Amino acid sequence: MEMAFTVRLLLLLIPSFFGVPISVFSQTDGKVAVDAYLSATAGNNSSWLSPSGDFAFGFRQLENKDLFLLSIWYAKIPDRTIVWYANGDSPVAPKGSLVNLTANDGLVLTSPQGQQLWKSETIVGVVAFGVLNDTGNFVLEDDNSESLWETFKNPTHTMLPGQDIEKGGKLSSQQSETNFSKGRFQLRMQDDGNLVLNSINLPTEFANKPYYASGTTGESNSSTAGTKLEFNSSGYMYVLRENGQKFNLKAQTVSARSYYLRATINFDGVFAQYSYPKNSNGNGSWSLVWSLPDNICRMEVDSGLGVCGYNSVCTLKSERPTCECPSGFSLLDSNDPYGDCKPDFIQGCEEDEPSPTKDIYEVQVLINTDWPTSDYMQLKPFTAESCNESCFADCLCAVAIFNDETCWKKKLPLSNGRLDSELNSQAFIKVRKGNSTLQVPQLPRPYDKKRKKPDHIDTRGISTSGRTG
Ligand SMILES: *[C@@H]1O[C@H](CO)[C@@H](O)[C@H](O)[C@H]1NC(C)=O
Ligand SMILES: *[C@@H]1O[C@H](CO)[C@@H](O)[C@H](O)[C@H]1NC(C)=O
Ligand SMILES: *[C@@H]1O[C@H](CO)[C@@H](O)[C@H](O)[C@H]1NC(C)=O
Ligand SMILES: *[C@@H]1O[C@H](CO)[C@@H](O)[C@H](O)[C@H]1NC(C)=O
Ligand SMILES: *[C@@H]1O[C@H](CO)[C@@H](O)[C@H](O)[C@H]1NC(C)=O
Ligand SMILES: *[C@@H]1O[C@H](CO)[C@@H](O)[C@H](O)[C@H]1NC(C)=O
Ligand SMILES: *[C@@H]1O[C@H](CO)[C@@H](O)[C@H](O)[C@H]1NC(C)=O
Ligand SMILES: *[C@@H]1O[C@H](CO)[C@@H](O)[C@H](O)[C@H]1NC(C)=O
Ligand SMILES: *[C@@H]1O[C@H](CO)[C@@H](O)[C@H](O)[C@H]1NC(C)=O
Ligand SMILES: *[C@@H]1O[C@H](CO)[C@@H](O)[C@H](O)[C@H]1NC(C)=O
Repeated sequence: MEMAFTVRLLLLLIPSFFGVPISVFSQTDGKVAVDAYLSATAGNNSSWLSPSGDFAFGFRQLENKDLFLLSIWYAKIPDRTIVWYANGDSPVAPKGSLVNLTANDGLVLTSPQGQQLWKSETIVGVVAFGVLNDTGNFVLEDDNSESLWETFKNPTHTMLPGQDIEKGGKLSSQQSETNFSKGRFQLRMQDDGNLVLNSINLPTEFANKPYYASGTTGESNSSTAGTKLEFNSSGYMYVLRENGQKFNLKAQTVSARSYYLRATINFDGVFAQYSYPKNSNGNGSWSLVWSLPDNICRMEVDSGLGVCGYNSVCTLKSERPTCECPSGFSLLDSNDPYGDCKPDFIQGCEEDEPSPTKDIYEVQVLINTDWPTSDYMQLKPFTAESCNESCFADCLCAVAIFNDETCWKKKLPLSNGRLDSELNSQAFIKVRKGNSTLQVPQLPRPYDKKRKKPDHIDTRGISTSGRTG
């Protein structure tokens, strides 16, 4: 990492010291002429730089070496964090793709076969040049230096100081840490002045009930309604009201003078501001300034999914959600730690029948874990013991939750699970004993083979790289 950084620094210095026009780094004022182009080629990191060299625009090679992302990133920090990318619906371009700056269509991305993959829309006028601003904004201008199109007005998952989101505008999360396709979460500045975070039901754009709302609708007095979300160049982020007042999203601020700042809607739905010391000589890292909502695991879900899949349990760690399968359950797709968990055993009345005693299950107790939307029966007044017994004897019951004389019996699949000390509850979860089904060999049970232990989720990626993604 450090070596790559040094190489890049040297390359940056050469043109300004010797005035030598070196292919990629020849432009020093951030300006890009019409007919200039970049190609997605491995080993030839072609990019256009902002005057200070803070930002670069160009192709980034993805983990899959034949795929590239047309994007803008921080050019001076080793992990070259991406702040914008073209074509959020289908963002990857094959090796050999070109991006051209054209007079009529602005930026045009084409595949090696010449098929148009994306273009900057909509250009009204004739582009004279492009300029990558030191703010991280790539602007297409006409010959009066009027802006015709800018990345700041077509954001993806990140906002930078100096950038606004007007009514009707939004940020969209990416699919996962490494997949830049459109994800499930959005930050939207609504027409009523409210700034909200919501999930959508992919592949539609249908917005589910917000899990955060600024409340700046101006219901009591229209002069207090929000007009736009502003991330001002000093690093303050607020909803600007009609009357000029500012509704700060959070009190914390960090100086945009000494730090790179960005606000990103992460793939797990957390909207967060991060800072990175500008003069860290390659030794810095992104730190969390603040995040919204306060606890995404408490997201109220009336349609769609929460952060974690079915039968999973959400826990907040370092202000980011992690998902874990309860014991006896494992990930349906081991590559998707945020996905559904499946039971490693069969449960149901028919399956339970052959056993004269109900001892085929054991009960595990989980403290402060609940799946609030999965109950089929509420019993009251009950004791913890009678709650456990009632579920144990009921072949429909997967788990019983006990809290303050009330027993909720729940069925599979369990949804919107979370672990939260505020719950003050006990969960009695039924798990089939490891080898008990071997005692009833007369029934074919394809799924009841002895399973490997549930995959344990590696949360390291979530709490370290995840926090900055
Ligand atoms: C090109 O990019 C790769 C990673 O994508 C990096 O390791 C390498 O140092 C870059 N080369 C130059 C000359 O910047
Ligand atoms: C890198 O780009 C230059 C100029 O565009 C070109 O001449 C050279 O062949 C490229 N190198 C590779 C490895 O593609
Ligand atoms: C992009 O530029 C290349 C090189 O000049 C050219 O061959 C190609 O036709 C251009 N594509 C478009 C869409 O203008
Ligand atoms: C470019 O950035 C400068 C500050 O670096 C700012 O004053 C100017 O308005 C920006 N221009 C555009 C078009 O964003
Ligand atoms: C990213 O996710 C989308 C949607 O799940 C999928 O279609 C696509 O193949 C993934 N892309 C990569 C590069 O894995
Ligand atoms: C709304 O608030 C403004 C001051 O912010 C006040 O002048 C105005 O009278 C209020 N309007 C109503 C309908 O209360
Ligand atoms: C940004 O907002 C803060 C808080 O309202 C204010 O003090 C500061 O002057 C603003 N900065 C700019 C450049 O407008
Ligand atoms: C980076 O940090 C290490 C250890 O903290 C230190 O030895 C090294 O000198 C630092 N490098 C730079 C370029 O500041
Ligand atoms: C739950 O009930 C079962 C069946 O009676 C019993 O074996 C188990 O010990 C009970 N567990 C707890 C924690 O009460
Ligand atoms: C089931 O497993 C337990 C402990 O692993 C063992 O003691 C018991 O004998 C096994 N029962 C059968 C029927 O294999």
